[in-house]
Amino acid sequence: AVIPVILSGGSGTRLWPLSHRDRPKQFLRFGSTHTLFQETALRCRAGLFDPRPVVVGAADHRFLLAEDLREIGIAADILLEPVARNSCAAIAAGCLRALARDRDAMVLALPADHRIPDSEAFAAAVASALADAEAGALVTFGVAPDRPSSAYGYVLAGEPLMAAARVKTFVEKPSAETAARHVADGYLWNSGKFLFRADAFMAELSALAPDVAGAVSRAVGAARAETDFLWLDGEAFARSPSIAVDYAVMERTERAAVLPVDYGWTDIGSWDAVAGVLDTDSAGNAVVGEAVILDGRNNLVHSEGTVAALIGVDDMVVVATPEGLLVAPKARAEEVRLLASHLAGDE
Ligand code: GDD
Ligand code: MG
Repeated sequence: AVIPVILSGGSGTRLWPLSHRDRPKQFLRFGSTHTLFQETALRCRAGLFDPRPVVVGAADHRFLLAEDLREIGIAADILLEPVARNSCAAIAAGCLRALARDRDAMVLALPADHRIPDSEAFAAAVASALADAEAGALVTFGVAPDRPSSAYGYVLAGEPLMAAARVKTFVEKPSAETAARHVADGYLWNSGKFLFRADAFMAELSALAPDVAGAVSRAVGAARAETDFLWLDGEAFARSPSIAVDYAVMERTERAAVLPVDYGWTDIGSWDAVAGVLDTDSAGNAVVGEAVILDGRNNLVHSEGTVAALIGVDDMVVVATPEGLLVAPKARAEEVRLLASHLAGDE
């Protein structure tokens, strides 16, 4: 069975004021009955998955993780990070935990902040990539880009394997110009999920990023089991370089493979992405909470504990929560990240 390793480390600063340090975006519902984290765990209930996922998340969020899992009746190995060391260290920790359970473990590393409405298509894609992963490939799932975004990794498929294809080139977060060229040249987006044999990933990591491999191995080796959690050793884990798996491994390994997929998929990264997954009324407005919109189109309004009123404005994001009030054009939603440094001083 494939052991899901769920990465729950995002801080979600681009979704302020709804998402913030004490409740980052993976613990929010975005119009669904479940949080993004719960949806991720629930997505892995098909027969090919091990029913006990490994969850890797911040120690500060342990009660959110435990409560979310309890609510959906899923038991997990919860690995806690004393400090964040980015996705490479998190995946390595999850892999080592999976290996401790099963020396031949297959791992599916999954971001906890994506929405994939069709769980069956998702499970079918994982099943079809399995043979290539069993043969030692580090398989990513590629999505056809619909715009030249710098927020994604780009992969160019080469020689065909069994179901996937060898990756010819992997480019993480290229500049806008390079991204446009890659889109024209038929590159796919890396959707950020990776399927591999846990031992194959660790072997690549030891070769390509030995500092990460060493620090995380020591942190897992010295982990403490306490109150339903596995606490990674703080001193050892902090020594790992903070680097994304895309830079540390995927851009450099010769074992990368890509399976093109076409199930619907959204990285709920910014407010315009949120607008894309919510239902809209006939004027294109998406509303969560109470709002009155007079003569306005294509707005996203999220209002908690108050009524939002908009008159004569289009294509805006308006978010009111006890944490703060955001007003911005949808097209500039990415810039919400710039607020983080301004707002940090207020705490
Ligand atoms: N536990 C843990 N700890 N998880 C982490 C940490 C950490 O320190 N840092 C990041 N993660 C998790 C995030 O929560 C997310 O689920 C996943 O790793 C990817 O990190 P992001 O920070 O969201 O990366 P990204 O969206 O900028 O880019 C990645 O995803 C894109 C697709 O959404 C890359 O893989 C891109 O190549 C890819 O296109
Ligand atoms: Mg992301």
